[in-house]
Amino acid sequence: MRAVVQDSYGSPDDLRVQQIDRPAVGDDEVLVRVRAASVHPDVWHVVTGRPNLLRLMGSGVRRPKFRVPGTDLAGVVEATGKDATRFRPDDEVFGETLRGNSWRNGGAYAEYASVPEDVLAGKPAHVTFEQAATVPTAGYIALLNIPADRLKPGRRVLVNGAAGGVGSVTIQLAKANGAHVTAVDHTKKLDLLRVLGADDVIDYTTDDFTKDSRRYDLIVDIPGNHSFADCRRVLTPDGLYVLIGHDRFGRDGHRWLGSVPRFAKLAVQSLFVDHLRTITSAGLSKKDAMVTLAKHLEAGELTPVIDRAYPLEEAAAALHHLMDGEALGRVVLTT
Ligand SMILES: NC(=O)c1ccc[n+]([C@@H]2O[C@H](COP(=O)([O-])OP(=O)(O)OC[C@H]3O[C@@H](n4cnc5c(N)ncnc54)[C@H](OP(=O)(O)O)[C@@H]3O)[C@@H](O)[C@H]2O)c1
Repeated sequence: MRAVVQDSYGSPDDLRVQQIDRPAVGDDEVLVRVRAASVHPDVWHVVTGRPNLLRLMGSGVRRPKFRVPGTDLAGVVEATGKDATRFRPDDEVFGETLRGNSWRNGGAYAEYASVPEDVLAGKPAHVTFEQAATVPTAGYIALLNIPADRLKPGRRVLVNGAAGGVGSVTIQLAKANGAHVTAVDHTKKLDLLRVLGADDVIDYTTDDFTKDSRRYDLIVDIPGNHSFADCRRVLTPDGLYVLIGHDRFGRDGHRWLGSVPRFAKLAVQSLFVDHLRTITSAGLSKKDAMVTLAKHLEAGELTPVIDRAYPLEEAAAALHHLMDGEALGRVVLTT
């Protein structure tokens, strides 16, 4: 099969397409004929090997232990392992390829991938493979971090970095639950934010939401470009601040530890400060998350907007497009 392969950590430009063997199918796995795979920041982390911490988290110390990048896919079931009972050949599915953390290569950038069946869900028929492929990692991060009790009618939610993968899922889940959403991102992405359902938009290049008079019950902060102290000023008395964290493709994160020191500091502060609750749904399984996300897709409450699809051979260009911040919607590879 054709697959993107990565033999060392470094530039996306080192990625290339090779013919390799189809992956073996484990007993509880499903072989998926991949139709689309998502290009998102965690893929960049593993391709570059940054922060270095990820190399100790199962990705491979000197070089990637698993050669084929990509963690999110949508496709068609080709075959099933002997203990896999949830899907049959020809079922259309989407999901993550990894049970654990997404800081390692998951094999999605290939014509075929073997995936544990419990991290897949059925793809709703009206949703395209490209759309479905963009949802798993971003959707899981959103569900894991965002307290459901804050996404209620009358609640005011601010999403900072709202046009990206996690932000666009967050806007739509908040709107589906009746919350009022203020979305912050770059000038060129404001129309996209309105399409996604934002009630108000703020251009971060000209306005600073932390200096505004508006108050929020929940701030979901993806880039983390303001301090918690600044964000706290615009929270309601029982408002909550949730940091998702983004290394801005190496520009902001610590070379060895990425955003981990900042999360550690917030975790300690959360013992004393009511406005902080770090991981809110730590027990959420990927299986439950994918089922929940499939329901939102089915109901039309979650509609991913695709900016551009690239062939496998242009994986490097697709990653550069993501890193440039030019994408107006999600970026995918198609096989
Ligand atoms: N917390 C967790 O549980 C967890 C778990 C796994 C992964 N993560 C991390 O979560 C992140 C997910 O990000 P994503 O997929 O949403 O990223 P993304 O698609 O790259 O989106 C980030 C958005 O933030 C915008 N942005 C950049 N600087 C900004 C600023 N100063 N103010 C407002 N918006 C700004 C970007 O726009 P421009 O670039 O055009 O400015 C972009 O639209 C990744 O970094 C991933 O590593 C978190």
